[in-house]
Amino acid sequence: MALMRVRTYGDPVLRKVAEEITEFDQSLEEFTTDMVETMLKEDGIGLAAPQVGASIRMIVVGMPEEEDVEDRKIFVMINPEITEHSEEMDVMEEGCLSLPGLSEEVKRYTELQLRFQDLKGETHEIKTNGLFARVLQHEIDHLDGVMFVDHLSPLKRSLLRGKLKRLQEETAAAAKEA
Ligand code: CO
Repeated sequence: MALMRVRTYGDPVLRKVAEEITEFDQSLEEFTTDMVETMLKEDGIGLAAPQVGASIRMIVVGMPEEEDVEDRKIFVMINPEITEHSEEMDVMEEGCLSLPGLSEEVKRYTELQLRFQDLKGETHEIKTNGLFARVLQHEIDHLDGVMFVDHLSPLKRSLLRGKLKRLQEETAAAAKEA
């Protein structure tokens, strides 16, 4: 097991459309273990593979169980796809490990139907709502090169321009070191 470096705003891998996963082998399983470990270490509730530099369609989610944040239910989803969503949307504040120090209110669908594969390649379909539905939309966005700041109004984005630019410079400096 190993911790992976979380890529931050400005890293080109975060803007790529990730590739579908077709091989369900041991190395995918090991990669998943490292991703889960990295997510928990960074105290995130979700992490998408591009955020650790792998442009592949896989996400992990660690939802806090009611009340107890320490106790998390871990979900691994490969090639996740939203097959249906509600008309209704709601707004909630979001953050992202790839956008440290930033949090903004983002509008998302309240209910989803989702298809994904597990580590054995078996397909599942689930219906979900609430925070879990929100986290899934956020993480699946990462697989398409989208980050939560892309959902903000042009005005809000322009207010963040300075912060984003600084973040981009820090990312470039960190990439030189790595
Ligand atoms: Co994120």
